[in-house]
Amino acid sequence: MFKNKKILLGITGSIAAYKAILLIRLLIKEGAEVKVIITKAASDFVTPLTLSTLSKNPILQDLFNNNDWANHVELGRWADIFIIAPLSCNTLAKMAYGLCDNLLMATYLSATCPIIVAPAMDEDMWKHPSTKKNIETIKSYNNTVLSVNNGELASGLFGEGRMAEPEQIIDYLKEFFNTTNELSGKKVLITAGPTYEAIDPVRYISNHSSGKMGFAIAEEMALKGASVTLVAGPTKEILTTKSIKRIDVVSANDMYNSCMEHAKDSNIIVMSAAVADYTPVAIAKDKIKKKEDAFEISLTKTKDILYTLGQQKKANQFLAGFALETTNEMAFAQQKLVAKNADCIVLNSLNDADAGFGHNTNKITILDKSGEITTFNLKSKKEVAKDIVSFIISKLNG
Ligand code: CTP
Repeated sequence: MFKNKKILLGITGSIAAYKAILLIRLLIKEGAEVKVIITKAASDFVTPLTLSTLSKNPILQDLFNNNDWANHVELGRWADIFIIAPLSCNTLAKMAYGLCDNLLMATYLSATCPIIVAPAMDEDMWKHPSTKKNIETIKSYNNTVLSVNNGELASGLFGEGRMAEPEQIIDYLKEFFNTTNELSGKKVLITAGPTYEAIDPVRYISNHSSGKMGFAIAEEMALKGASVTLVAGPTKEILTTKSIKRIDVVSANDMYNSCMEHAKDSNIIVMSAAVADYTPVAIAKDKIKKKEDAFEISLTKTKDILYTLGQQKKANQFLAGFALETTNEMAFAQQKLVAKNADCIVLNSLNDADAGFGHNTNKITILDKSGEITTFNLKSKKEVAKDIVSFIISKLNG
């Protein structure tokens, strides 16, 4: 099942480290190639000898060993997936804050592959607000956090915090590897975030788009094996998948030019950016000084990227647009679908609580050119990205 799959397993200091031994056995049985990194605390729970014997590879622990530098960059690039199981409270906090004081953390910080973690801790630690916050933080860095189980804990108490069982991790990996290659060979162009339209050297017109949705779609497309180019307006978002080509732009015109350059050979185009519809006719060279009570700025329409790409659409291209509406949502989205010659429109409404700009969650409806309308529940933007990408894949597969 996992033949030719390269799995990097990180083990941190927790009593659940014994489960990592079972996990290695199962991975090897499934044909995977396994390399193991342990922290110093983990070596108090499981011995390097056991781990190296089972994984058939030397155990990696130190950044420096006998004057040899352990190449953490290589490790993160070698792996198809990096699993940290068990994830201790301490390593979780380091991941949230980006600390780099051992080989495991250096590898984590430089890894280009998807990362999944299986936390293990006592219930009180698991429920501590700082743990909750750290979990949310590492999720926002696009790490996948496996659920903890409920049951007897090392402390003798019963509750939440048990590490996922090795069999559950294997099930996750089966699904992961089964679905990762669906877009291999496909080129994808995505826009994300807002644009800034300069008024003068210090001011601009923009909107509240955070870029979160487009970034999540880019990560999901890459996870499915696509070669992704992301044209991003000004945003604080970061990418964890290093293979994604990120092009940062500022204005609607910059975004237009970049898209025109990259759209030609794209098979899938997803326009999730909140592009400014109007831009100042002229940008003042110097800061505009405060004078009269009223002040007007002349604006001119920006070029509509989605519309232009819809006009040039090739037979082998799938074009997805977005619509963020506050009134007559379905009717406006339907109009955009037709007017812009898109294959589908992802509609989100600001009237839905916790959906739209800035939120980590979103609620979408996808309108397809065949007339099909699919409504989804409120979900994390990562889950919404999965729905959008699965929808597009289902359309590509006819
Ligand atoms: N879009 C674009 N270029 C623009 C404006 C919008 O590519 N200059 C794209 C957006 O990325 C989105 C879709 O068009 O995929 C719809 O954007 P939206 O702002 O909702 O619609 P508009 O066409 O701008 O219409 P309105 O602002 O009147 O709703």
